[in-house]
This record gives sequence, structure tokens and C-alpha cells, in this order.
Amino acid sequence: MAMNKILVAGIFVSACLLLLQCEEARAAEFVVGDDQGWGPQTNVSRWLEGKRFKAGDVLIFRYTCSLCSFVTVISDYYYRSCDAFSGLKKSYNSGNDHVVLDYGDNFFVPSYHVYCEQGLMKFKVFAN
Ligand SMILES: *[C@@H]1O[C@H](CO)[C@@H](O)[C@H](O)[C@H]1NC(C)=O
Repeated sequence: MAMNKILVAGIFVSACLLLLQCEEARAAEFVVGDDQGWGPQTNVSRWLEGKRFKAGDVLIFRYTCSLCSFVTVISDYYYRSCDAFSGLKKSYNSGNDHVVLDYGDNFFVPSYHVYCEQGLMKFKVFAN
């Protein structure tokens, strides 16, 4: 009987510890551009100032403009060359896109090549 109580208490404590860990690991959500929203007018470098990201955090892109769709690419090479096709990781075009950050560098490139060439809507974030 006493043994059972200890067991139950043990399970309870373990469950609490697990919950605490989950609490700590909870992902943060960031709306890219905040009130400015997402588009060629967004000053992403300003938006990024002072922000830190963890793997599992979510970037939310909200937009209605038809040229504001974007992709993630697999490496800095495709990021710098604006090659959204060859380096494609995933494409987004819903206007309410949620991107879960992977550990390491995450590269965002606009689908519209001209914007990328102009350095618009193009950014990378490091998540640790
Ligand atoms: C974007 O923001 C950065 C940092 O605040 C600033 O230096 C830069 O001039 C801004 N770019 C534009 C196009 O406004």
C-alpha cells in the first residue's frame, strides 16, 4: 500500500517536471513586420533588430499582395543568388503563412525575382 503511494507520488512529480520542461520549450510566435505587415515595403532589417530566435519558433507572414509570396531556400548560396527554384526548401503563398524555424540559418527569399534582386523581402535568421 505504502509502496503504491510512493509510486503514485513519483509519477506525479515526473509529470510535473515534464510539464515544466514543455513550458520552457514553448515556441514563440513572431508576426513579420508587425503592424507594417509583410511586403516589399517591410524593412526587415529594422524588424529583426534585437530579436533572437529559437528552433521551433514560428514566423507568421500576413499579406494580401499577390507578389508577396515567398520561399525558403536550403542554403546561403541560393539565398545570395536569389535562386528560389534550384534551392527551394518550401514555398508559401497563403497570405497567412506560418514558418517553423529550423535550427541554424533559415533563408527567406521572395518568389518574385525582381524583389529579390532589389534586396526586398529577403532575409535570414539564425535559430538556436
Ligand atoms: C531599414 O532599417 C535600417 C535599420 O533601422 C536602416 O538603417 C535602413 O536605412 C532602413 N532602410 C530603409 C530602406 O528604410
